[in-house]
Amino acid sequence: MNEQITIAVVGSGYVGLVAAVCFAEIGHRVICVDNDESKIAQLRDGKIPIHEEYLPELLDRHRNTSVEFSTDLHSATQRAQVIFVAVGTPQSQTGSADLSYVDAVASQIARSITEYKVIVEKSTVPVYTNEWITRVIERNGVPRELFDVASNPEFLREGTAVVDFLHADRVVIGVDSERAGNLLRAVYEPLNSGRYYQSVNAVPGERSATEPSPLLQTSTKAAELIKHASNAFLAMKISFINVVSNICEAVGADVEQVSKGIGSDGRIGPKFLKAGIGYGGSCFPKDVAAFRYVAEQIGVDFGLLREVEKINTEQRKRFFRKVRSALWTFRGKKLGVLGLAFKGGTDDIRESPAIDLIADLLNEGCFISAYDPFAIERTKKVLPPSGALSYAKDAYEAASDADALLILTDWQEFSEIDLDRLHYTLRYPVVIDGRNLFDPATMAVKGFTYLSIGRPGTAHQRDSALLQKLP
Ligand code: UGA
Repeated sequence: MNEQITIAVVGSGYVGLVAAVCFAEIGHRVICVDNDESKIAQLRDGKIPIHEEYLPELLDRHRNTSVEFSTDLHSATQRAQVIFVAVGTPQSQTGSADLSYVDAVASQIARSITEYKVIVEKSTVPVYTNEWITRVIERNGVPRELFDVASNPEFLREGTAVVDFLHADRVVIGVDSERAGNLLRAVYEPLNSGRYYQSVNAVPGERSATEPSPLLQTSTKAAELIKHASNAFLAMKISFINVVSNICEAVGADVEQVSKGIGSDGRIGPKFLKAGIGYGGSCFPKDVAAFRYVAEQIGVDFGLLREVEKINTEQRKRFFRKVRSALWTFRGKKLGVLGLAFKGGTDDIRESPAIDLIADLLNEGCFISAYDPFAIERTKKVLPPSGALSYAKDAYEAASDADALLILTDWQEFSEIDLDRLHYTLRYPVVIDGRNLFDPATMAVKGFTYLSIGRPGTAHQRDSALLQKLP
């Protein structure tokens, strides 16, 4: 099989843009549609609004040949055989996913259908969304035999999105008709047959011609549930290890050792067992809440997810208390902050623990100098520079003359910092690390007071343990 399919991707956010470019990379013709004219104009000029590895190269490779950008959904629908809907599903006030963008796009697509199309949900949506989309399209007068609705959830992570897409652990296609199944299998054939990995220009990753990305075909409802349940499970793993890290702190054990010991069990696995300051980002907080809401709506008590959320919130507060325990008082203290993004490898600051923490520290009267390799511009929009908050050009400038240095994002760059230089740059050699980037023994040898997550601290740890108990 070597079929070129014409695909429309609606939405040019993280998922839409990466999917559009990657579909072109595996040999299809793609029209990426968004109603944001300025964004489309930028993309046409090859300007990418997000920081994502390999995306600039792939866009250069395919722009104006196999991938084009448009604001015309009508024409894209008419030309495409398969239409992927990758618009936002933000969290509403109740915690449920707000599906109004999906609803609006479904109606618009319906008005342009004159021959058979497969409409595919790629946004993260609750179970039953495919039925709603079907109903919306039918209400717009489209005969049932002219369309199918499928679900093809995306499991890409920000920062490694392109590699995650092209070297997927699994591709899930949820279909309720063989016709739709055939078309979606043809879309992913280059990845599932391994053909893509034979190309000399293929983006490198774990998959290969002999071990290609497997395809899992399910019902639409199962596919919708797989997405929510996967994110909820991963968030649960993080909250679990975070509580274990708190126990480690109380008894003087090292959570990194415990995590390795747990993760070595093949049934548990080592990934997503890194203790820290809690998960953030545009997905886990929103998806855990949405999945909990779905369960509630159908009368299933998923209290476990409430606990996952509660632990996550508490983990951030606990870190704040840890900072206070090291500083004693906040007012007038000068702090260096490394990391603004919700995790390393991205410039995304949505639900970033770092942003909340900086806001809280500013409220307490601290002076902050913050640095992040890519997220400063975005942060300035929510936390503008002021007398109390400045942005530094590198880690050393952020640390300069500070009473303590806080590490809030796991950028590789931070773990490569010159510790001797850091030591004489800081006013006091105090490092409070929310991401466990350094070995406590090394930090002790280098003369730092070093507090991290779930591990014995150095120097003033005993004092700080005492202080944590103070009101
Ligand atoms: C997450 C999922 O990992 C993807 O599979 C999914 O496709 C995506 O959501 C989505 O639904 O679109 P992402 O939000 O990009 O991807 O980021 P993750 O790498 O999953 O990290 C989420 C948060 O958990 C970050 O704040 C990270 O620092 C934190 N984390 C992650 C930990 O605290 N510990 C860990 O061991 C792993």
